[in-house]
Amino acid sequence: MTLPRRSWAEPFKIKAVEPLRITTREEREVCIREAGYNTFLLKSKDVYIDLLTDSGTSAMSARQWAALMMGDEAYAGSESFYEMADTIKEYYGYEHVIPTHQGRGAEHLLSQALIKKGDAVPGNMYFTTTRLHQEIAGGIFVDVIVDEAHDPENLFPFKGNIDLAKLEKVVKEYGAKKVAYVSFEGNVNMAGGQPASMQNFREVYEYCKERGIPVMLDATRLIENAYFIKIRERGYENKTIKEILKEICSYSDGCTMSSKKDHLVNIGGFLAVNDDELARKTRELVVVYEGLHTYGGMAGRDMLALAQGIREAVDFDHIRARIGQVEYLGEKLIEHGIPIVRPIGGHAIYLNARKFLPHLDQEELPAQALAAELYLESGVRAMERGIVSSGRAKDGSNYKPKLELVRLTIPRRVYTQAHMDVVWESIVSLWERRDTIKGLRFVYEPQNLRFFLARFEPVEAKVPAGRAV
Ligand code: F0G
Repeated sequence: MTLPRRSWAEPFKIKAVEPLRITTREEREVCIREAGYNTFLLKSKDVYIDLLTDSGTSAMSARQWAALMMGDEAYAGSESFYEMADTIKEYYGYEHVIPTHQGRGAEHLLSQALIKKGDAVPGNMYFTTTRLHQEIAGGIFVDVIVDEAHDPENLFPFKGNIDLAKLEKVVKEYGAKKVAYVSFEGNVNMAGGQPASMQNFREVYEYCKERGIPVMLDATRLIENAYFIKIRERGYENKTIKEILKEICSYSDGCTMSSKKDHLVNIGGFLAVNDDELARKTRELVVVYEGLHTYGGMAGRDMLALAQGIREAVDFDHIRARIGQVEYLGEKLIEHGIPIVRPIGGHAIYLNARKFLPHLDQEELPAQALAAELYLESGVRAMERGIVSSGRAKDGSNYKPKLELVRLTIPRRVYTQAHMDVVWESIVSLWERRDTIKGLRFVYEPQNLRFFLARFEPVEAKVPAGRAV
């Protein structure tokens, strides 16, 4: 008998376990009310399966834990820094590494060093902290991602691509000298974990190079992007993830990195650049904001675990199982008719809250409401990625993103297939009673990155008929 398919399994066995607490619905009602209906404000002890983020939530390997014991904690010139910098150079190819405590530390340094007031910063969809640092530095973010990325049902395989015509328009409008750099994210988080193609990385770089515009990658999930290139783009089937990663980086001038994702560590990040002058400038800044240029906010042991994490992250069996687990969950949801962003992305499943809750107006915060309700249903914690995350423009109006999503983010090497079954079953039972889910409104709204600390309450009154959905 030939089997219709052969299963892959995780390329590891489990050595240490952390017990989980299962709460009752009554307990969760108290918890979510006390958290102001914001899943960021829940205590992790009250969460059963935590899909808030894949950031800093990975399980480290035995080798990474062993590396912790070997860290050189010298304030200056730590051996662990040199090992990390050499590893980054080997896998990503950049000349200079400026360590930071995490991704946004690197974004801060890069934005301060390259952006002048009034400069445009084109990017393939925004990321919350990235755009904020660009704006604080005086930049104007312009979205140049392909239109397909804004349509949750479009099956285009490279929804992370930059639209060269949109980029050209920005360059014409501002002039190449007023374009600080192109901010090019791999496996675009806010678009649903969607990759860019190698062809697009190459074309964007060639276009920018001719005009003297630097290309800076957000390499946070670039290894996941490399995996999609291997399986989706002609000519890359037989290349290793390591080779693909290095080729992508060769089409750029540097990158910011949150190592808390791809690199399988709980903290850490860096800025890596080729230009000597930019390296000098950002080293001067790192000592002010992060720490000395040979630790930048990380302990020596963190830097060693990070270096080991890079070596493990590019292993094909690892990345196939990691993305395979996300696909498993996504396919179960699709089978049951749940509206999710497609194609299934690299690090997360995104529920399409507009379709899930068509009776709610976007101003009634459907994705925030759905995330709160999922917690109530089963203790699964997810994250809003819609109008709340998008924040307000300088004139005070809400950015109104086309995508109104709830992100179920899968930590790397942490949960089993049985956990994924609990998750999709909970979502299916929510789907069956979706008409009962109410909207939310702000009762406290912070000025910046409001989604982290905002508080909400349920909207009891119905909105008037005739509203746009
Ligand atoms: N860039 C991307 C694409 C990210 O997803 C993140 C963080 C950052 C930059 C900032 O890095 O957190 O280390 O300062 N994303 C997390 C998330 C918070 O849940 O998606 P950081």
